Amino acid sequence: MASMSGIPELIRCGSVSLRPITLADRPHVYRWLNDPAVMPYWSGLDQPVCDADSLAWVERFLSSDGSLRCFIIESPQRPVGFIELSRQPGDHNYGHLAEIDICIGEPSEWERGYGSSALIALLRWLFTETDIERAFLQPRVSNERAIHVYEKVGFRKEGVLRRAEFMDGEYHDAVMMAALRDEWLAEFGGAKEG
Ligand SMILES: CC(C)(COP(=O)(O)OP(=O)(O)OC[C@H]1O[C@@H](n2cnc3c(N)ncnc32)[C@H](O)[C@@H]1OP(=O)(O)O)[C@@H](O)C(=O)NCCC(=O)NCCS
Repeated sequence: MASMSGIPELIRCGSVSLRPITLADRPHVYRWLNDPAVMPYWSGLDQPVCDADSLAWVERFLSSDGSLRCFIIESPQRPVGFIELSRQPGDHNYGHLAEIDICIGEPSEWERGYGSSALIALLRWLFTETDIERAFLQPRVSNERAIHVYEKVGFRKEGVLRRAEFMDGEYHDAVMMAALRDEWLAEFGGAKEG
């Protein structure tokens, strides 16, 4: 089974596709990360990002050794957001873990099913084409929409991480949510969608 470094050119689920980020995506990233409706949901973003920050943000994925990846989520019309994927670099004991972060950066595209489809596409690829055994994410407890979507696509709540995040001068609790390969494939199947 391939490691996560073998990245496909395109992953599809329904009307959504995921493709690796490129430098040409920087204007989208800049807009998304500075959108006042998006910023409160995105950890670490209590300040707007400048042009140089958005370039550095994209470049860190392009220069990664394969342990850090970013996919752009494409609706049939346009890029609408991104998914980050990270695993411990070169660590054999924890190499089976992948952490996921997702952001639909266009608020007008929220709640159209793109986030759910993108996560199903990513999990299907991770669990059928790579050696990832456990995929997890850590939404803030207050992010009820994200938690609902994560449960819908097969992540299970495992517990509360108290004061896991510091943002806007406050600590926030987060929920540890994970999907395991065998459980997820039993529920969602491994068949690819065209
Ligand atoms: C969270 C996010 C990825 C979800 O993607 P999306 O495309 O908007 O979500 P979908 O359209 O696939 O699904 C929305 C679901 O949430 C439900 N929902 C909406 N608001 C909700 C709320 N306040 N509480 C619970 N469920 C809610 C909808 O009813 C729908 O559920 P259904 O499909 O069972 O009817 C996206 O909204 C987003 O990126 N938001 C901003 C950044 C963010 O929060 N990122 C996650 C950080 S952990």
